[in-house]
Amino acid sequence: MKIRNVNFGEKPLFLAPMAGVSDVGFREEAVKFGADVTYTEMLSARAMAHNPKKTDLMTITSPLERLTVAQIFGHESEYLVKALENEMLDKFPAIDINMGCPAPKIIRNGDGGALMDSIHLAGHIIESCREMTKKPLSVKFRKGYSEENYLDFAKMCEDSGADFITFHARTVEQGYSGEADYDAIAEVKAKVKIPVIGNGDVVDLASYERMLSTGVDGVMIGRGALGKPWIFKQLKEGKEDVDVDKYQVVLDHITTLRKYYNEKWLSLYIRKHLLWYVKDIPMANAIRMTLATCQNIDECLEIIKKCFSKNI
Ligand SMILES: Cc1cc2nc3c(=O)[nH]c(=O)nc-3n(C[C@H](O)[C@H](O)[C@H](O)COP(=O)(O)O)c2cc1C
Repeated sequence: MKIRNVNFGEKPLFLAPMAGVSDVGFREEAVKFGADVTYTEMLSARAMAHNPKKTDLMTITSPLERLTVAQIFGHESEYLVKALENEMLDKFPAIDINMGCPAPKIIRNGDGGALMDSIHLAGHIIESCREMTKKPLSVKFRKGYSEENYLDFAKMCEDSGADFITFHARTVEQGYSGEADYDAIAEVKAKVKIPVIGNGDVVDLASYERMLSTGVDGVMIGRGALGKPWIFKQLKEGKEDVDVDKYQVVLDHITTLRKYYNEKWLSLYIRKHLLWYVKDIPMANAIRMTLATCQNIDECLEIIKKCFSKNI
């Protein structure tokens, strides 16, 4: 998949943008295991204009990342266009506009998934951004807000100048409930000429193959990578399981974050990742309790090390 001279790879695997989760350390681990494309957490176009320091920390990238897409959100085209002019985004080779986020505070402002119910405004935003950037420009959206309008929305994205689209086949109202509708993904793929990245519920080889059978040009994985960034290696090698030093992955994730963030912030932030890393091991509940109460990161790391050793 080559777009405007940017090579995304053959049937590329994307690590999904995940606010509060897809930090630079996690993305680095995903890339080591074969993720071709990574995303920043969603960046508020308004905040970039008014409070750039807040966004600054969210635009840290790793030299290991080959292709990181900056994802922006907002409903005011003037702010989105301004964001594209912001030097913070200079280093990113591609831009994505979030038109699918279901979080109530995003929807209340008319951003993210709310735009699925304002197709003309969404089209105006894409056209304005298209005029502003020569970089690959994509849109990430869902099946609709509550009414399903994904075919019209996909066509609108194409007609407004998006180079590719990422489709999470659930409605905004559904949030993360129910199942992603792979038939809808196949319909979108048949409807537009631009590349389509399929997203939703890819967690193993079987779901990955089901997603590929829709004809998509690439696959995006979110929750399936939580605590398991090696899923990209599994999928690329076509294996149910791969031999990975899991403790080393956790250690590397934390070591990367320590380069950029202070210990106090990190010790609060990292616990959710640690809980995901241990979710599949025996006695996960007891370990979770211990991790929740340990005093600092090194103590947590000792516990994780023991968990992953063969004695447990
Ligand atoms: C914790 C979390 C945060 C997310 N944040 C974002 C975000 O910032 N931008 C976005 O477009 N989607 C976001 N998503 C949605 C994912 O990118 C993805 O579309 C969704 O999880 C479905 O894919 P999956 O079934 O592979 O997880 C988020 C999802 C989760 C679970």
